[in-house]
Amino acid sequence: MVDERSCTMSPRLEQLEAIETAIWHELESAAHIRNHPWRVAVLATIDGEVADARSVVIRDIDPAARTLLSYLDPRSPKARQIAAHPLGTLVMWSAPLGWQLRLRVHLTVQASGLEVSSRWARLKMTPGAQDYLSPLPPGSPVERPDPERGSREHFGVMAARVTALDWVEVHAQGHRRAVFDGDGRRWVTV
Ligand SMILES: Cc1cc2nc3c(=O)[nH]c(=O)nc-3n(C[C@H](O)[C@H](O)[C@H](O)COP(=O)(O)O)c2cc1C
Repeated sequence: MVDERSCTMSPRLEQLEAIETAIWHELESAAHIRNHPWRVAVLATIDGEVADARSVVIRDIDPAARTLLSYLDPRSPKARQIAAHPLGTLVMWSAPLGWQLRLRVHLTVQASGLEVSSRWARLKMTPGAQDYLSPLPPGSPVERPDPERGSREHFGVMAARVTALDWVEVHAQGHRRAVFDGDGRRWVTV
């Protein structure tokens, strides 16, 4: 089921509480360190009767609110899916840690307000601003792969509030899995 070649040999945390603390510490690192393996996560959402998924960058984190932030174009299909079904799952894998995280999340998209305008004010000074300046919504057909950019931004902030955390550790001495949710912390079979 799991690839033995990617196992880590680092010392293991034994207590569930310490593991949960370490997970949130890693998530904080992911939000602030560009090359952290959890910096880019796969976000799965519900698209009517089918599943959808795509990569998103973890831009910020509020551990007290158990919330991760990403940026998006509010016209995007994912924003539409979230408006219809606010439940999603974020999946992350770190080969150095040997840790997979599967986060059940409640998603909200903000397209205006102070949070959005203050983050755009910072982002618009950077090359990353280009991603939010297309006159066309994401997924629109175009003649060329590099269409013109407009001057009006289409920028939003997606908040993912974590309701349950499923952790898998791939390890040479035996894989482990634990769940952290509203019912507490517990070991489960891998
Ligand atoms: C490494 C990587 C990081 C990405 N980060 C984001 C992101 O933070 N926000 C975003 O909206 N799209 C991001 N994308 C693009 C999405 O994966 C996706 O192609 C696009 O947002 C359209 O998704 P949708 O049709 O589900 O809305 C990223 C793509 C890659 C390859």
